[in-house]
Order: sequence, then C-alpha cells, then structure tokens
Amino acid sequence: MNSLLHTDRLTLIPLTAAHVPAVFALHAHPEVAAFNTIGIPKNQSTTEAILAPKLDPANKDHLGWIIANKQGVFMGEISLILAPERFKKGEISYSLHPDYWGNGFATAAVKALLEYAFNSLDLHRVEAGVAVENAKSIRVLEKVGMQREGRHRKILPLKTGWSDNYSYAILRPEVE
Ligand SMILES: CC(C)(COP(=O)(O)OP(=O)(O)OC[C@H]1O[C@@H](n2cnc3c(N)ncnc32)[C@H](O)[C@@H]1OP(=O)(O)O)[C@@H](O)C(=O)NCCC(=O)NCCS
Repeated sequence: MNSLLHTDRLTLIPLTAAHVPAVFALHAHPEVAAFNTIGIPKNQSTTEAILAPKLDPANKDHLGWIIANKQGVFMGEISLILAPERFKKGEISYSLHPDYWGNGFATAAVKALLEYAFNSLDLHRVEAGVAVENAKSIRVLEKVGMQREGRHRKILPLKTGWSDNYSYAILRPEVE
C-alpha cells in the first residue's frame, strides 16, 4: 500500500490516473528518455499502459508516486516494485523533469522512499539499476548510501544502442 510521503520540500503523492498526462510529458522529454528503456511514448495511452500495474488498486506490488513540490506542482515520478513477500525486497526507479534537476530533489525523494520501504513496509533490501553512463543517477544512488554490487553487460536497449547497467542495493542497517 502506498501513502502520502513528506520531505522538507517535497510531497510524494500516490499515483492516480489523473497524473497520466504529466507522466506522459515527463517520459516524452528527450533528456529524461535518454537512459530509459521504454523510449519516447507515442501518446498518453502508451503511458497509461506502462503505468497500469501502478494504477491498479488490486496490485499491491507496484507502488507509484508523483514527486510534487509543497504547492502540489508535478516535478517527477518515483516507484517501488516489490518482490514476493518472503524476499522482503523492492526495486526503485525515478525520473524528474529537467526544469528541477540539480537541486537535490531526486536524492530527497529517494531517501523518503527508502525510509518508507524499511520502516513502514519492513523491507530488508532495496535495489536499483542504472545505465553506466547515467552519472547523475549514479550520484543520487551513492548519495543515499546505495552500494554498487555488479555490472551487467549490454543489457539495456537504449536509443544509442546496448548499454551496460550497474546494479545497486542498500540493506536496512545501512540507512543513516
Ligand atoms: C537522475 C535524476 C533523477 C537526478 O535528479 P536531480 O534532482 O538532479 O538529482 P540531485 O540533485 O538529487 O542529485 C544529482 C547529483 O548528480 C550530480 N551530477 C550532475 N551532473 C553530473 C555529472 N555529469 N557527473 C557526475 N555527477 C553529476 C549533481 O552534482 C548532484 O550531486 P551533488 O548533490 O553531490 O552535487 C534526473 O537527472 C533525471 O530524472 N534523469 C532522467 C531520468 C533518469 O535517468 N532516471 C534514473 C534512472 S536510473
């Protein structure tokens, strides 16, 4: 189950169908799509289909939020996909509109989600994958305390061709 999450400057709001147009515009932005394996969506229906598991209230494993400022203005999105219960783990992913890059917002959003994952959902491990060229996102993962655990060769079909992917993870005792 996902709840409203708060940081000093942000609110993470559970994703609803009303957010589809904003997420479509975000995913369609070429700078956001650069390291994204879904490519530029054709239209809002494509985005809605991609978001469908997170929009389905019956689906308890796909949790999505929008990242908004305190005025409720859409800035990006963040997700947590849960593995089967016995593993007590999940995988995060996130995107922020370029208008807001470089202000620590992604780092703050990821920290809030980790806090929720470990303290409210009682997870034991949270993972993330990132293209090896995605320096900004690598920095975000390392700033929140995630450790690089491996490199998967030519696994991401990016616009520019096959890319290697780093796998990152953080365990519950490692959260500051
Ligand atoms: C990755 C992304 C979410 C970062 O958002 P953000 O709000 O700018 O991130 P933050 O401001 O919290 O942190 C970015 C960090 O990267 C650093 N950075 C920026 N450009 C960099 C570069 N070329 N090389 C290394 N570090 C870089 C910043 O200096 C900052 O670190 P600092 O706080 O130590 O100075 C955003 O760029 C994005 O949405 N990208 C497109 C989608 C995407 O790649 N999602 C992640 C998929 S794994």
